[in-house]
Amino acid sequence: MIAKKIGSGLKRASVCLLAAAIAACGGSGTVATPAAAPPSLAAVAGKALFFDASLSASGRQSCGTCHVPTRAFTGDPATDHGLPVPLGGRTMDQTGFRNAPSLMYASFTPPFSLDGGPVGGFFRDGRASSLAAQAQAPFVTSFEMANADAREVVGRLQDSPATLAAFVAAYGNDALSDPQTALNDMGLAIAAYETQDDEFHPFSSKFDYYLQGHAQLTPQEQNGLALYNNPGKGNCTACHPSQRQSFSDHALFTDFSFDNIGVPRNWAIPANNAEAVSPIDGAPLSIALLPVDVPSDAEYAYYDLGLCGPFVPAVGDANARPNLAATTSLCGVFKVPTLRNIAVTTPYFHNGVFSGLHQVVEWYVTRDVNDNTGNNPNPVAAGPGGNPYMPGGTFYTAADGTPDLYEYNDLPVKYDANVNIVEVPYTPPTFGGGQAPTLNAAEIDDLVAFLCTLTDGYDPKNPSAYVIPAQCQPTAAATAAALKQGTAP
Ligand code: HEC
Ligand code: HEC
Repeated sequence: MIAKKIGSGLKRASVCLLAAAIAACGGSGTVATPAAAPPSLAAVAGKALFFDASLSASGRQSCGTCHVPTRAFTGDPATDHGLPVPLGGRTMDQTGFRNAPSLMYASFTPPFSLDGGPVGGFFRDGRASSLAAQAQAPFVTSFEMANADAREVVGRLQDSPATLAAFVAAYGNDALSDPQTALNDMGLAIAAYETQDDEFHPFSSKFDYYLQGHAQLTPQEQNGLALYNNPGKGNCTACHPSQRQSFSDHALFTDFSFDNIGVPRNWAIPANNAEAVSPIDGAPLSIALLPVDVPSDAEYAYYDLGLCGPFVPAVGDANARPNLAATTSLCGVFKVPTLRNIAVTTPYFHNGVFSGLHQVVEWYVTRDVNDNTGNNPNPVAAGPGGNPYMPGGTFYTAADGTPDLYEYNDLPVKYDANVNIVEVPYTPPTFGGGQAPTLNAAEIDDLVAFLCTLTDGYDPKNPSAYVIPAQCQPTAAATAAALKQGTAP
């Protein structure tokens, strides 16, 4: 929830925990529980389309390249050459602008709405009206699959026999005669796959089995859950609800609302850096700076401002939200992502600025506890009593790694007032004096241990077969401590 809506933001936290009041939480339509029935012809076609790299201008990129099933359908930093944003384009040398989100549980997203604050819609800025509308975009986006238009996409489909057969089985030969109709149907097919296939919403995490009484949380995970829900500690549940809401029979760990949480600028995004070079051949990268609602006196040339730009709804998406470029109060506002599978979807946030969950939570609880803020009325210096996690006192660094002059430095200073500074965990309840992070290091460990229980693929009958994500492996010290207390899993 954005800063000005603090009243409703806090109300949302309590109201939405009540299953009886779920209709008040902004959900405008439930999605049917996925059936175990055989996949529809549309979903079969959708799966073939999703993984067919020959449909891209480079011949090297499919949806599945940037949304990898084993990474909860997010991108893979290895194939992205270590960049926090994907590469694409006709010769795979164009860089993207955002970290690819997980597609798991995305089919539960409600339509975009501005009533009572922004909610829903697809993409991190909610600009696509449906999964089907969204799925058309990557095929014709110059820095992704990079076809010039629908005609080029359909030409490639006609040259890809297996995918073509699946498509024709679902939509008939006639669907190919008009390229835009064919691209619409391709979108519908992919949406059917993302909605119907359980791969996208298995609800098979340890936490799900715990709720059903088939798995036990360790004391550490249990404590992490309590901190997650505690309004004075983690308060994560205020935006990433651990309780079910109207969208699904299960908790989704997002309420699909939008907020400006002032994440630090990521200088590894080529668009943020005028002298970016290709990680492949060292050649200067051609970055088409998109028109964006950046004030002329802004500190840096390019900003990703979420709801207010640079991206706008596609012309052909008749049901899309309005263009919000002129609504500067929404600049810097992004959709709350699910935390399901969060342990396997590094890096984090729309700009991929953090690569570990521990670091994310350290940032959350110390965001305004540092020594360089223009917004914080009572800045605390680094060192004892200051930000305990960053020797430099801040996560906000300039391109050279030194503390930035600007706090929320991924936002023009002019829009700093849009940042939510009134909800835990950003700002401790004691805001205004005597600030200290709401979680200490051991509590952060516990919270992260809980987040690790949200990874799908747990088998309560064979817990030892479960592959623990790398950042969830207990440290030697934690294992020793647990053994001593007799609480080792
Ligand atoms: C080059 C990498 C790349 C390719 C290829 C790609 N995506 Fe994405 N995808 C992204 C990025 C980056 C975003 C976030 C963009 C934004 O928010 O503006 C995204 C966002 C999405 C979303 C929005 C999820 C949500 O919760 O709102 C969906 C759905 C999606 N992609 C599906 C697809 C499908 C289907 C295809 C193939 C037709 C595809 N993607 C191809 C990188 C890619
Ligand atoms: C007031 C709302 C709010 C609260 C409270 C909140 N978050 Fe978030 N969270 C967001 C928003 C909005 C984003 C997306 C921001 C972006 O992409 O720039 C986000 C993103 C994240 C991400 C990155 C997800 C991804 O896929 O990249 C993680 C991890 C996360 N939050 C964890 C937490 C934890 C843990 C807590 C509690 C300590 C918490 N959040 C509290 C709103 C909130």
